[in-house]
Amino acid sequence: PVLVVDFGAQYAQLIARRVREANVYSEIVPHTITAAEVREKQPRAIILSGGPASVYAEDAAKFDAEVFELGVPTFGICYGFQTMAVALGGEVARTGRREYGSTATQLTDAAAASCLFADQPSAQIVWMSHGDSVAKAPEGFEVLAHTADTPVAAFGNDERKLYGVQWHPEVLHSEHGQRVLEAFLHEAAGIPNDWKPSSIIDEQVARIREQIGENEVICALSGGVDSAVAAALVHRAVGDKLTCVFVDHGLLRKDERKQVEEDYVKAIGVRLVTVDAREQFLGELAGVTDPETKRKIIGREFIRVFESTAAQLVAESRNDDVEGEIKFLVQGTLYPDVVESGGGTGTANIKSHHNVGGLPEDMTFELVEPLRALFKDEVRAVGRELGVPEVIVARQPFPGPGLGIRIIGEVTEARLDLLREADAIVREELTAAGLDEQIWQCPVVLLADVRSVGVQGDGRTYGHPIVIRPVSSEDAMTADWTRLPYDVVARVSNRITNEVEGVNRVVMDVTSKPPGTIEWE
Ligand code: XMP
Repeated sequence: PVLVVDFGAQYAQLIARRVREANVYSEIVPHTITAAEVREKQPRAIILSGGPASVYAEDAAKFDAEVFELGVPTFGICYGFQTMAVALGGEVARTGRREYGSTATQLTDAAAASCLFADQPSAQIVWMSHGDSVAKAPEGFEVLAHTADTPVAAFGNDERKLYGVQWHPEVLHSEHGQRVLEAFLHEAAGIPNDWKPSSIIDEQVARIREQIGENEVICALSGGVDSAVAAALVHRAVGDKLTCVFVDHGLLRKDERKQVEEDYVKAIGVRLVTVDAREQFLGELAGVTDPETKRKIIGREFIRVFESTAAQLVAESRNDDVEGEIKFLVQGTLYPDVVESGGGTGTANIKSHHNVGGLPEDMTFELVEPLRALFKDEVRAVGRELGVPEVIVARQPFPGPGLGIRIIGEVTEARLDLLREADAIVREELTAAGLDEQIWQCPVVLLADVRSVGVQGDGRTYGHPIVIRPVSSEDAMTADWTRLPYDVVARVSNRITNEVEGVNRVVMDVTSKPPGTIEWE
């Protein structure tokens, strides 16, 4: 494999993803890995990720410098680049000058001769995020790029096959970033591009079989892409040992339950149990307004439903000689869910996704999460490969906590009904306008604690605003607001204010992510 060494923050998985895009198999390992452990894995190449700290900081992520002596082609990125510089005798300085965001970079003459940058334009815009800089390349290394503020923005040693860049080639804002990574993997390290996304399927099927063995397993099916693909994978691995559980928590969109019951079972061919837990969820949510508290309650109640359902399934199957308990729970957790819940190495908790940070501490299920390292578009590719139909695979994301985190204020049945109507109108109009593919998703939010004055039918109204938030994104880690055609916005606004009682204003959220997140809570 190619080893991606994780020095923290959100970068390692993104690098792993870019390596997969180059049709090469990769594994992420912690920076504490020793040279001996690396040798054992017999990697064909190593990539060192960026990280949040300064290499001189007390708590800086350390790395075994012996690794550089193993003769394995190695590529350092940002913090990894600086770590490499220090380990090999170069110098990293606190220049006091920081570079963040798009930065003009100039390749040197030496770069033209290096296989990393061959045939690339010498002026490139790349994405930087650093305080310290490499001041001097290690001996035997050529300087391959510089910027106005950074004399050594890239270096390399073709003979030892050791390279590094100060910028982040893995982010889309770096021009030619993927080309640099591919040049390293295919040219410098000589790795063929023969790994396919469908290889994930074989790997995961084997891993799932190993984890579950002959045991029974339940899958939390939400109606979304992720859990459907997770279910299809597990179904391929263990067949009818799998039962899917769909929870109607009362926070669903219009017709969602019906759609899941009809489409999904047919499509994936799995056994499905629907649990009506509306009273339970709404009861627990009564009086709650804080977003994190809502998320934790919803995460907890989901697990409570799965526990009771598992117990019930066991009780029912006693007659068929099935013994013991169901201790495995499949979830369609994706990498962004893990990162935003603070589950990466040293990452902050932005919000507790119901299936990660929202899980109760006393949960006894062992989780099966075959998609945990992937991004949504990769999950879609896996789903297509597994034969999951397009209506499911192409579905826009909808969060597990559902409308519960789209009502700003207390969640009540009346408010849910109102939001369901508004949401249905938005979806209908966007689909009718042919905008589904262009939009990643479009949360519709009810500002339940805000009221404004309006006039309708010669009378005064004092109603609530509805927010529409259309966003475009590649992987939900960053997003931009979608420039909807005004006539579509006008139709949506018109219909909502006319058809949904209690709403007298429609506003559009025009914030990118960052600084906003996609959902309001
Ligand atoms: P944010 O709001 O963090 O959303 O920008 C990023 C993506 O994740 C979805 N989301 C969730 N999905 N459980 C989920 O299954 C959750 O708790 C959750 N919170 C946010 C959101 O809809 C968007 O696609």
